[in-house]
Amino acid sequence: MKKILMVLLSLMLVCSISLAEDAVSSATLKIEKLPAVETKDNGILVVYFSPDDTVRAAAYTIASALSAELFEIEPAEPYTEDDLNYRNRQSRSMIEMGNNQARPEIAQLPEDLSGINTVILCYPIWGGQAPKIILTFLEGVDLTGKTVIPFATSNSSGIGSSDKALQSLTGDWQAGTGIKKGTSEEDIRLWAEGLNLGK
Ligand SMILES: Cc1cc2nc3c(=O)[nH]c(=O)nc-3n(C[C@H](O)[C@H](O)[C@H](O)COP(=O)(O)O)c2cc1C
Repeated sequence: MKKILMVLLSLMLVCSISLAEDAVSSATLKIEKLPAVETKDNGILVVYFSPDDTVRAAAYTIASALSAELFEIEPAEPYTEDDLNYRNRQSRSMIEMGNNQARPEIAQLPEDLSGINTVILCYPIWGGQAPKIILTFLEGVDLTGKTVIPFATSNSSGIGSSDKALQSLTGDWQAGTGIKKGTSEEDIRLWAEGLNLGK
């Protein structure tokens, strides 16, 4: 009887481990599954910063709708869940947002923007503003003569004054938009198509 119990327990253990592995791989697949965007060399670049995937998914939808290139702003030091805790005033993100001099390092800036005419700049709203790493980006690249269109995601704030706060830093700005949690992929696509870029 003891032996049967041991066998049953071992079987249950093996099953639970493989279920856990499935959960991990499907969570990772969420983003890896995104197929490559078919680009059209049309001078449109969708730049995004997305520590927690919401902006990434929206940026992908925009790039697909416009057949545009994608560039991810990757922090040299990735943000952990604790870093993103906005309820803790001492978390990394909150300390950065409280410091006007903060310029979190970017792992790699885009090498060549010479063929780009329009940049759609996608970022999450942090404390009503764009994360400081967006300032690192804008100060690190030359967008002279290029049109910059901001696109922000937030829980509820909307784009607010975040775009105006960035305008003085670079390029020619065109009014953008802010979407809130729950906005459909279709609405994002319609917004992107409504920009009438390259037509
Ligand atoms: C540090 C921090 C501050 C935030 N501040 C705001 C805010 O002021 N207003 C708001 O509506 N959402 C706020 N949020 C929520 C994010 O804007 C929202 O979840 C966004 O879609 C996250 O994008 P991501 O998943 O690509 O990181 C904040 C999130 C973080 C991490």
